[in-house]
Amino acid sequence: MDNLSVEHLIGIRDLTKADIELIFKTADQFKDVINRPIKKVPSLRDVTIANLFFENSTRTRLSFELAEKRLSADVVNFSASSSSVSKGETLVDTVNNILSMKVDMVVMRHPNPGAAKFLSDRIDAKVVNAGDGTHEHPTQALLDAFTIREKLGTVEGKKVVIVGDILHSRVALSNILCLQKLGAEVMVCGPTTLIPNHIDKLGVKVSHNLRHALEWCDVANMLRIQLERQDIKYFPSLREYSMLFGLNKEILDSLSKEIVVMHPGPINRGVEITSDVADSKQAVILQQVENGVAIRMAVIYLLAGKIERQ
Ligand code: CP
Repeated sequence: MDNLSVEHLIGIRDLTKADIELIFKTADQFKDVINRPIKKVPSLRDVTIANLFFENSTRTRLSFELAEKRLSADVVNFSASSSSVSKGETLVDTVNNILSMKVDMVVMRHPNPGAAKFLSDRIDAKVVNAGDGTHEHPTQALLDAFTIREKLGTVEGKKVVIVGDILHSRVALSNILCLQKLGAEVMVCGPTTLIPNHIDKLGVKVSHNLRHALEWCDVANMLRIQLERQDIKYFPSLREYSMLFGLNKEILDSLSKEIVVMHPGPINRGVEITSDVADSKQAVILQQVENGVAIRMAVIYLLAGKIERQ
């Protein structure tokens, strides 16, 4: 069987183009499975997976749990807010306690950049990064690129603009790396205060003008303003941000070509995107969520193939 070049999924940075293509090929098969009347395969009946969420999540958490159950794995869920972390237990102690219950794989979201790598260096189980602070969110980037491939036939040669709070976004970095590995051109667009210095060193174009960015692109990925990660004021008001960088139907309809509109969620309707755009036929936001299950099934299935079975 073909398999990944990595033992864990920590970030897109570690994946080769062949890894990403293998994940997509496997996800194509799982997408067929989840559209059947019986949406389940028995592949991982001998695998136990713990979902450890130290930060809030709706889509990623539900999507991983559903993916694991569709593969027939045993699943345990852990939420920091209702756990002994609040009594002072460390990350490694928490995880070691869970592993002593014979867990084979850990899916973890954590507020600290590098947390998934830290864990993978210290435990025997496979680790999947479900978002580590402002660092990476690899399965989001994979499902975003998979959705572009589905919608436009290929990612290679396409022009993708990522708009908004690039500075605090793990989705932005993972998307840039994934899209570039697949041969897309990437631009970032937003206020100067929300674009990291020297981001052009990653080989991306930079624009501070939304109309210019939208006229350039085939796909616009509109990111949420991450107020919960902002320690200072990066722009005068949400109203001003939305006037300069929010996507509304008037701008969308005035472009010289039809573009695809993406958003990783959760959406702040009326800030980065208006409701009529979010609900328009050009938006693929719910397709992204649907594809998230197939992509996560593929990642888990491929990593589980690397678990040593007795
Ligand atoms: N896109 C994403 O990561 O959403 P959640 O925070 O709801 O998981």
